[in-house]
Amino acid sequence: MGHFDQVQQRALADPQGFWGDAAAAIHWDRPWDTVLDDSKAPFYRWFAGGRLNTCYNAIDRHADGGRGEQAALIYDSPVTDTVRSYTYRELRDLVARLAGAMAAHGVGKGDRVIIYMPMVPEAVMAMLACARLGAIHSVVFGGFAASELATRIDDAKPKMILAASCGVEVNRVIPYKPLLDAAIDQATHKPDHCIVLQRPMARAVMTAGRDLDWAEVAAAAEPHACVSVAATDPLYILYTSGTTGQPKGIVRDNGGHAVALKWSMKAVYDIEPGEIYWAASDVGWVVGHSYIVYAPLLHGCTTILYEGKPVGTPDPGAFWRVISQHKVVSMFTAPTAFRAIRQQDPEGAHIGKYDLEHYRALFLAGERCDPDTLTWAQEKLKVPVIDHWWQTETGWAIAANCMGIEPLPVKPGSPSRAVPGWDVRVLDDGGHEVPRGKIGSIVCKLPLPPGSLPTLWNADARFRQAYLDEFPGYYKTADAGYIDDDGYVYVMARTDDIINVAGHRLSTGAMEEVLAAHPDVAECAVIGVADSLKGQLPMGFLVLNAGVERPESEIVKEVVQMVRDRIGPVAAFKTATAVKRLPKTRSGKILRGTMRALADGAAYKTPATIDDPAILDEIAVSLKSVGYPKGA
Ligand code: COA
Ligand code: AMP
Repeated sequence: MGHFDQVQQRALADPQGFWGDAAAAIHWDRPWDTVLDDSKAPFYRWFAGGRLNTCYNAIDRHADGGRGEQAALIYDSPVTDTVRSYTYRELRDLVARLAGAMAAHGVGKGDRVIIYMPMVPEAVMAMLACARLGAIHSVVFGGFAASELATRIDDAKPKMILAASCGVEVNRVIPYKPLLDAAIDQATHKPDHCIVLQRPMARAVMTAGRDLDWAEVAAAAEPHACVSVAATDPLYILYTSGTTGQPKGIVRDNGGHAVALKWSMKAVYDIEPGEIYWAASDVGWVVGHSYIVYAPLLHGCTTILYEGKPVGTPDPGAFWRVISQHKVVSMFTAPTAFRAIRQQDPEGAHIGKYDLEHYRALFLAGERCDPDTLTWAQEKLKVPVIDHWWQTETGWAIAANCMGIEPLPVKPGSPSRAVPGWDVRVLDDGGHEVPRGKIGSIVCKLPLPPGSLPTLWNADARFRQAYLDEFPGYYKTADAGYIDDDGYVYVMARTDDIINVAGHRLSTGAMEEVLAAHPDVAECAVIGVADSLKGQLPMGFLVLNAGVERPESEIVKEVVQMVRDRIGPVAAFKTATAVKRLPKTRSGKILRGTMRALADGAAYKTPATIDDPAILDEIAVSLKSVGYPKGA
């Protein structure tokens, strides 16, 4: 039996021993009573009885323990032409002061704090300052609209919001403060205070009494010590798309999270403390939480915070410039980023301009990695390219080629095997395991390993209903796929209405709710169509009310704007078309899968249950009017 098999077998046979050993790498204020508390199954709790502080483990421990002068964070921002480095000691002092300012304005253990910020070092400080106080942060991605922020304010009920005056995209500055003000106006819950970081590109207008200037309050504050919390206390809530407009508040605990992430840095990514690690994502996504902020700092690494894009800042050599300039040993991004680079630099000519001698591996996740992109990256970079599969819910990889345990052969199209701790199975609709090679619902046998979600924020019943009820004893990933004879997992498609646009997870159901609100729209459907850059793009179909005489193009323009205003630019919703009717089954279910096949020009069988097959011809004509299928 290979080393990987041995580790995997032990993790599943003896989770208490396995994760108990891993937990020795974390500093505990009080040891746990039980490694895994299953007394309230299917709600499991890791390291019950233990106490710790995640911020202490991420920075103070290194600042005081020999890494004080090592860079903890390098901020590299081509959009503002800035590179700035913070040592562990500097980061600790800045975080302690910010925590002091927050505490002086009423934030304490268990309070929620929303963070609505672009990729600036203060966003990382904000997350760590919450962790320091035992407050629960909820970071909201900058590409979401005010109403998405309002929904999260009403669900999390934050005492305070930390924000920046603006974000900087490639060609424009996006003022965040008007979005924040609009969101607070729309929300029923009101935060007591907002601490606003003024960026010079677009200064914010402050609301007297409520808004505080970041620089002023931080300068006036006393440093705050780390507050000891229970391992099972929430560290953060991260909202992600559910199947409706109401996002799911994924909860992450402190203890299990710290143990799993620290362990993963060596086991999955083969990184040693002191090395320079880069996840090119955004702090608004789970990849940013886990691998820009917490994991590399818990491991004593230097993490890179990159405020830029793979292309256009200024060219498709941007990633190689960062890797070379900062001596990055390993980077993590989404396949979309590589498709964007490849589109602009198919020969990889920019790679040759940089010295990549320290660079060892590329990790890809966030969406299915097409074998073409994987092979291109392997050939051009000449380092191992590792696809790995995870979700906001899991917080770290479910399946990966664990480079720090035993590298396994790469099979393009598969994120390799289940990571130790994850018991991955494939079930049919009746809940029975299917033979190897046969497609079905991918599930993970309970209990999930540490670091994965213990529940949804204030929504235990929704947690059970969304993840546990359909296959008792298992966590439903909502991904479909298969496992081959060598145990490699293949993740093929979602089983729900989630689509993946440029590595961003979006709900077509939420977009349909927006389209349905247009006064001229009687009925609608949104599907994800294949896109060579972003993987998928949303496309809307509108059945207009009888008697609507306005030009279709006007209504399409309005619904596109509505999605941008209510969900945000990140939805990338730009295409919609009017149809006379939607194809449905006789029981009234919209045949979205068949519409998707038509749009992608893929083979399909007319479903036997279809109410009227002639509608498919009408849909094909409408699709043609907006240029689909591509290349037809
Ligand atoms: N704040 C405000 N707006 C934002 C934003 C932010 N933080 N991030 C993106 N947007 C806007 C973009 O400007 C764009 O607006 P537009 O419609 O006016 O052009 C829109 O949201 C869509 O953004 P995106 O889908 O990212 O497209 P893009 O054309 O700007 O960039 C890529 C395309 C491929 C370069 C980009 O998606 C990318 O770098 N992806 C990497 C994937 C990634 O980081 N995934 C995270 C999970 S690992
Ligand atoms: P998110 O919660 O935004 O990380 O999105 C999680 C979803 O992205 C998963 O459920 C998958 O559908 C998809 N996904 C993430 N990584 C991969 C991967 N390596 N291969 C295939 N799909 C992936």
